[in-house]
Amino acid sequence: MGSFIIPRKTFHGIGSIENLKEVKGKKAIIVTGNGSMKKAGYLDKAIDILKVVGINSAVFEGVEPDPSIETVMRGVKAFNKEQPDVIIGLGGCSAIDAAKAMWVFYEYPDTKFEDIIPPFKIRPLRNKARFIAIPSTSGTGTEVTCVAVITDRNKGVKYPIVSYEICPDIAIVDGDLCKTMPPNVTANTGIDALSHDCEAFVSTLASNYTDALAAESVKIIFQNLPKAYNDGNDMKARQAMHNASCLAGMSFTNAVLGIIHSMAHQLGGMFGVPHGRANALLMPNVIRYNSKSTDKYRCLARIVEKKTAEEFAQEVEKLRKNVGIEDSLREYGIEENIWQEKLDAITQNAMNDPCTGTNPRKPTLNDIKKIYECCYYGNFVDF
Ligand SMILES: [Fe+2]
Repeated sequence: MGSFIIPRKTFHGIGSIENLKEVKGKKAIIVTGNGSMKKAGYLDKAIDILKVVGINSAVFEGVEPDPSIETVMRGVKAFNKEQPDVIIGLGGCSAIDAAKAMWVFYEYPDTKFEDIIPPFKIRPLRNKARFIAIPSTSGTGTEVTCVAVITDRNKGVKYPIVSYEICPDIAIVDGDLCKTMPPNVTANTGIDALSHDCEAFVSTLASNYTDALAAESVKIIFQNLPKAYNDGNDMKARQAMHNASCLAGMSFTNAVLGIIHSMAHQLGGMFGVPHGRANALLMPNVIRYNSKSTDKYRCLARIVEKKTAEEFAQEVEKLRKNVGIEDSLREYGIEENIWQEKLDAITQNAMNDPCTGTNPRKPTLNDIKKIYECCYYGNFVDF
């Protein structure tokens, strides 16, 4: 038995932001970040399109990277004042994730943040508003997922809020918005999407539905990520990467992830390694490790005209190099004494991460530590 849940409508293609005119409602609130959507003219464009169909818009600006509980609560105040029946997350995944969380507290004012930390605890939404996501980065796939990552700054903890209730109603995947992404962000987010594919494809919850999406997404990323990285104005490559990230999102929101993410979350939390870059540095060795328990990587290898899991891992290494990513955590710049000091703590935390449960090979604590060590020094995992 299984299920497959995605937004009811996904619009895609250059210029697809125009599909905002299909939205029905009276009042919209647009949640966005620190000004890049405004500067590039997309905020005004969205407001203008909505006005044509009789929807007035309010704007909540200034969502920071890794949005905090405080930012979410400030947004809820604005929601309560404006009483929107349409919520639009416009921008990077932070803006969209924050908007998802604001939506929950707008619909249920008596809910506390602690109440929604356990997975699948959010009560039915859509009594007050519907949700539209318009992403400007091609990585997390948040426009189609049931996840929103919110940070408790006092505790220094990132909470993934998980519920199919917060899966958007409409996703607009317009590659034009990605022109604002600099090359290193294009590389990191693109590899994040690839890691979603590689984890969803071998997850213990993978299905025919999620496999088809992940496999197509892998093909698109190998063909287009170097192009989008080398020429940010290559709109064909930009749209292709935006589509691939969305397909990867549809896949992993249903199949869940594995220990690339369990381990990457710790590198982000402890050393500030950007999420996609952490995935890039871990992925080839996790593929080697998992390949002892699953032969599914051979299907992914065929997509890049190779045969074995090892050859596929090497193709990921080549792709990573082509988009300016180093070969080891040491080269990335984590100092060896600090690394050794923190290694046991991040190993334990990775083991406890919720993504570990759906990894195809059940790791021991020592396995995780050894994989971390190999990724730090740039060695191959062979156990
Ligand atoms: Fe990710």
